[in-house]
Amino acid sequence: METLKVDVWRGGADGRFQRFEVPRRESQTVLDVVTHIQRFLDPSLAYRFACRVGMCGSCAMTVNGAPRWTCRTHVDKVARDGELELAPLANLPVVRDLVADMREFFDKWARARGQFRPTRSRADAFVRVDPRSAARREADAAIECIGCGVCYAACDVVKWNPRYLGPAALNRAWTLQADVRDGAHAERARVVDGDAGCHSCHTLMSCTELCPKRLSPTRSIAGLKRMSLRALLMGEEAA
Ligand code: SF4
Ligand code: SF4
Ligand code: FES
Repeated sequence: METLKVDVWRGGADGRFQRFEVPRRESQTVLDVVTHIQRFLDPSLAYRFACRVGMCGSCAMTVNGAPRWTCRTHVDKVARDGELELAPLANLPVVRDLVADMREFFDKWARARGQFRPTRSRADAFVRVDPRSAARREADAAIECIGCGVCYAACDVVKWNPRYLGPAALNRAWTLQADVRDGAHAERARVVDGDAGCHSCHTLMSCTELCPKRLSPTRSIAGLKRMSLRALLMGEEAA
């Protein structure tokens, strides 16, 4: 039977790779490979997944040097000469084995005011948002983020400047700045305009190249930069 040689990160930040041999199967995903190792070769292997269908964003890892969602990544696409190297996502602390600590990633969403701030009460009527409006189309283009952290792990600016809010949090901020119902535009604009915000992005595009949902955080960040410039020209204090 054909086998795949798989080097898997074991332990914490000071860990090392351990080699496993896994049977090769048709249509096998990287997550199938990890699951085989955990079920049949070493039950102590730590990794994370939930939906297996590209919805929850929990299965991302570094696969042969690049961050990827593993439940939708086929081995055929990424194996090199029958070998795979698997490690936790970069730019985040390692918990153990293939599990990265995502707290910092989600804390940055909160710092970028990534929550919808309602302006109405339950007693009010629904706000009608025209699906053809420019703002709604901007939000639609960026809204399908599953919070997988692939873009964050791919971003060199996050590596150089750990305070940088990063592509996912800024992408989320952009969707809310384009939401006419949200009541935190000015506050969010101040945060995303600051040192750790949109102006730190060097437009290197790694986030956009690797986002499994084919979103473009780079484009969203450019939108935030335009918004900030407009506010400056209008003499407004950061929007
Ligand atoms: S475009 Fe900006 S946010 Fe995206 S990877 Fe490059 S520097 Fe990071
Ligand atoms: S923008 Fe794309 S890569 Fe980044 S967290 Fe969202 S879905 Fe994942
Ligand atoms: S397991 Fe949910 S996105 Fe991969």
